[in-house]
Amino acid sequence: MKITVFNGSPSGRNSATNVIVNSFLEGAESAGAETHNVFLCEKHIEHCSGCFSCWFKTPGKCVHNDDMPELLNLYNSSDIVCFATPVYTWNYTAYLKNFIDRLAPLKSPLVNEDNGNFDLADAKPREQKFMVIANCGFPGDNNFEVMRNSFACCHPFLEIYRNCGKLLKSTNEDIKRIVNEYLEAVQNAGYETVTGEISEETQKRLDMPLMSVTDYIKYIGMG
Ligand SMILES: Cc1cc2nc3c(=O)[nH]c(=O)nc-3n(C[C@H](O)[C@H](O)[C@H](O)COP(=O)(O)O)c2cc1C
Repeated sequence: MKITVFNGSPSGRNSATNVIVNSFLEGAESAGAETHNVFLCEKHIEHCSGCFSCWFKTPGKCVHNDDMPELLNLYNSSDIVCFATPVYTWNYTAYLKNFIDRLAPLKSPLVNEDNGNFDLADAKPREQKFMVIANCGFPGDNNFEVMRNSFACCHPFLEIYRNCGKLLKSTNEDIKRIVNEYLEAVQNAGYETVTGEISEETQKRLDMPLMSVTDYIKYIGMG
């Protein structure tokens, strides 16, 4: 099984998002998966020009000359594609949005209806599964609402939404203990993704609060 993560954090390898991604991939690798971790901020990706050449003039091929062909190959050859990002202004980052816009060559100009929702049909049938890993700086769940709705169209089998993201890179020993326990659950999720499905126990641990809201606000010094 081939799993590819496309990480849209401007902090790339040093991102809190990548702390979660690394644990997930470790778990997946221990179950035998081949994994790829792509940092979009390190890639040359032009903005979509909206010319529709990739549908009408040169189907499947974009007018831009950048790193996208290599990334599209990786995307197309993966069994699981993971979109990973921090929350920026209630949504995924511009890096990830730009990348997703540039997936247009994989779509066709044909309209698809799914339960009253309209989308473009894929140019070729696809069997890939999708998942999401995101973290945000605030407590609470509302920060993930926009993203949850955006990704609903690809029916993700797993969405790891981690609030209180500032804790993920903490050097405080007590906090590191809590975070490591959480990352163990993320690692399990990676393992279970390859071997079957996410167990109820793992899902419960993924959804666990890391800290009370009051303590977190005090911790980040924003109270
Ligand atoms: C421009 C900008 C916008 C942000 N918007 C939100 C937001 O809407 N909600 C939130 O909870 N955190 C927000 N954050 C905080 C980030 O989600 C948080 O710092 C996260 O841990 C960064 O993850 P990363 O290290 O993976 O990039 C924002 C940060 C920046 C720089």
